[in-house]
Amino acid sequence: MKVFHLSVECYPVAKVGGLADVVGALPKYQTKLGWEAAVVMPWYNRPFVRDHDFSLVHEGTFYQGSELLNYGVYKENKNTLGFELYLIKIPGKLDREEVYCYPDEGEQFIAFQHAVLNWFKEKNIIPTIVHCHDHHVGLVPFLMKYSNDYNFLADVKTVATVHNGQYQGWTHWSKAILLPAFDSWKWGLLDWDGLINPLAALIKCCDAYTTVSEGYLEELYVEANGLQHLFYDERHKSVGIVNGIDWEIWDPEIDYTLMENYGTEQAFAGKLKNKQALAQQYKINPKLPLLVFIGRFATEKGADLLPDIILNLTAEYRDRLSIFILGAGDPVIQSRVKSLVDDGIENFDVFFGYDENLAHWLYASADFLLMPSRVEPCGLNQLYAMKYGTLPIVHRVGGLKDTVIDLENDGYGVGFDGLAITEITEAIARAINFYESKKQFEGNQRKMMCLDFSWDKSAAKYISLYNQII
Ligand code: ADP
Ligand code: GLC
Repeated sequence: MKVFHLSVECYPVAKVGGLADVVGALPKYQTKLGWEAAVVMPWYNRPFVRDHDFSLVHEGTFYQGSELLNYGVYKENKNTLGFELYLIKIPGKLDREEVYCYPDEGEQFIAFQHAVLNWFKEKNIIPTIVHCHDHHVGLVPFLMKYSNDYNFLADVKTVATVHNGQYQGWTHWSKAILLPAFDSWKWGLLDWDGLINPLAALIKCCDAYTTVSEGYLEELYVEANGLQHLFYDERHKSVGIVNGIDWEIWDPEIDYTLMENYGTEQAFAGKLKNKQALAQQYKINPKLPLLVFIGRFATEKGADLLPDIILNLTAEYRDRLSIFILGAGDPVIQSRVKSLVDDGIENFDVFFGYDENLAHWLYASADFLLMPSRVEPCGLNQLYAMKYGTLPIVHRVGGLKDTVIDLENDGYGVGFDGLAITEITEAIARAINFYESKKQFEGNQRKMMCLDFSWDKSAAKYISLYNQII
């Protein structure tokens, strides 16, 4: 039994967000359950690739339109990640540093998918399951069934995981010429509203689709950036499976990036030491509780609300709180956040950019993590926060609703239902007041750290889905 995960991100090879964390962890836990698992992703000019040994296991060529592309398949020699890792390199297309945002991104994704199928064909690889993550690899199930060259894979089962339905990979029909030849009677399977829509094609052609939480699946039936009817119509093959945490990486007891490791019993003291070290580098007050935001500056994450939230915390609460923001993205949001720093707001600091180690350090130092997301298919930040004893303050949507139970309902976090600034600041105020009832707060830290958001359970659900469809 062998599953091939196709994805453009995988931690620690190339990470932009949670997709990488999932693809870097799920296969490892699947191998523990007796399946063979492999990840196939594009080759990136990045440290992991430069620092590890790879062997060229296959070379081939194919036409993308009139352009002849050469590709190489590189296998990491030592299975360092706990599963087989294959990188597809295509000079001029898949040999760059960044994962997204190149002007020819759509052509890169098509080339990646075509190369994978061509390699399978030339090496006669017949997986048990092909597992496609998000729209970047959304054309694969269609091509496995209806392309002239690759329909030898027509009986292989395919699973799609929707990490984010907002992005769909829309491509103009004029680009159809770049795809491997396919049965043109089936063009409708690629189409949505007059464009090639890889996410729609994925949902139409896969044998089963999953979302990264149950709550998000329900939401997609109602609102999915135009695909809600499709998700609803195909619901018979859908299941929500919440993401887990890779405890080999995200555990404050062994996390090598921290200034101070700690377990459940010394959580408050351990976190304080991390916070004190942070205060030596950044403008926060270690005597106050620390609230952090970690994430992409995108409206989806509610990052645009941060300046107003901070300004609207009344003086009463502002003096009882430090705030730290780690993120990058939308330049408009970034400049608004920057203007708060320039205004010299007390006990407030920011790091603009992407810094994996700083993120770990913040989960360990913080008392509260704020997630005012408008959309959150699962969200890993709140899971990491809880594992590190940090109280999540979240908008009750998608995976946040599923994983954060409010203190008022015998849970361990703080939730809010609307995105009015007053409602969010009230939720923060509730967390600050709770912090001040020290004994309960510390008890709650221990409670959160013992919650079981492990991959073991979720990986087993994926395996049981595979078994159902084969
Ligand atoms: P998404 O994938 O939508 O961005 P998730 O909550 O699933 O959201 O995952 C985000 C991941 O990216 C987490 O591992 C988080 O710690 C990390 N992350 C986000 N922004 C940054 C940043 N600026 N620096 C370091 N890590 C970040
Ligand atoms: C996407 C979603 C996020 C989810 C992640 C991993 O990036 O936005 O909510 O946690 O994928 O599944």
